[in-house]
Amino acid sequence: MSLTEYDSLKRRRPESISDSLVLAKKNELIASLEPYVAELFPSLLPPKDKLWTPADFLPDISASSPDWPDKLKTFRQQEGRISPELLNIIIVSGATEEALPSYQTRLNSLDPIRDVTGTDDSAWARSAREWTAQEYPHGKVLMDYLLLDGRADMAAVQRTNQALIRNGFNMRINRDPYKFFIYTTFQERATQIVHARSASQAKKEGGETLAIICATLSPDEGRHYLYYGKIVRRIFELDPDGAMVALNEMMQQRIIMPTERIDDGTNNPTSTFERYGRLVDNIGIYTPEVYADVFNTVLDMWDVRDINPKEDAAKRAQEGVIRLSERHTKVAANLAKREKPALDLSTFTWLKTLPEERPALPESALLFERQPTQRPQ
Ligand SMILES: [Fe+2]
Ligand SMILES: [Fe+2]
Repeated sequence: MSLTEYDSLKRRRPESISDSLVLAKKNELIASLEPYVAELFPSLLPPKDKLWTPADFLPDISASSPDWPDKLKTFRQQEGRISPELLNIIIVSGATEEALPSYQTRLNSLDPIRDVTGTDDSAWARSAREWTAQEYPHGKVLMDYLLLDGRADMAAVQRTNQALIRNGFNMRINRDPYKFFIYTTFQERATQIVHARSASQAKKEGGETLAIICATLSPDEGRHYLYYGKIVRRIFELDPDGAMVALNEMMQQRIIMPTERIDDGTNNPTSTFERYGRLVDNIGIYTPEVYADVFNTVLDMWDVRDINPKEDAAKRAQEGVIRLSERHTKVAANLAKREKPALDLSTFTWLKTLPEERPALPESALLFERQPTQRPQ
């Protein structure tokens, strides 16, 4: 490789070049987990009685359903109770799920687990395809729901979904497979909570179908969270120092949601992501408390506080990550007490019309009860 080529490569992937030896060691460890992943694979599969498709939840409007207009009318009457606030959140949840091609691309960009042929028989490749197959109906069911509900401007929604895929997303992991699994575990847990809280909110508002849909998505994410979390736990067992440093680096830079680059195309000076962030905070679906809770949950799952790192850098990383989690918990508790300014919903343009008189939102309490941490056997 010429010096110029090296320089240009370095500019594109600086850390992977400077830390190539470290990266090679990490990739080797991940590749060695193949038998463990094969053993873990069944836990990724949904229980047989929980297999579902989007059509299971939505009114049958096919030509063979003679009373489809009545079914649709009843559905719209019931789901029409869902507030525009929650509907906008569902649109963003749908866009996030619909950006699945971006996530699969990231998953398949990791050297040690790559599905080279597209039909590889390795446990890593099979689990990546299984995960993708399970994620696929998540976006689909939310989009179908919105279409049948009839209040969303589906062209605007679809433009947003496409723009999000086009804009991409940056996990900020720099090809580090440890960081990939840490990020994914965190994100699966966060999504589990968002869907669960959306289900509670939908139920409170009287939108039974939306409640059932979100309550169905949530356990899928919960299973994914446990699956990826167990992989990280195994990484901690085999390379506690390396895992600790990676975890600290990820948490210090903050876990950014994959929707970061969402764009509703309105050129609003406040980004779509920031406005969405305020909306989910206001309605109590994704708040600083949730972030701190997910942070603490993953630390518990990996016994981060009880590990005894060998290297000084790893010891400092452990102190750093524990301190940071405590700070997040404290800041989140303080932020929870603040008055949250109302958000002007007209800045969101995905809904066709907003009713003039809208029912007041029910008080959003803590809608998601934290379950005791599930530890791998
Ligand atoms: Fe999902
Ligand atoms: Fe998931």
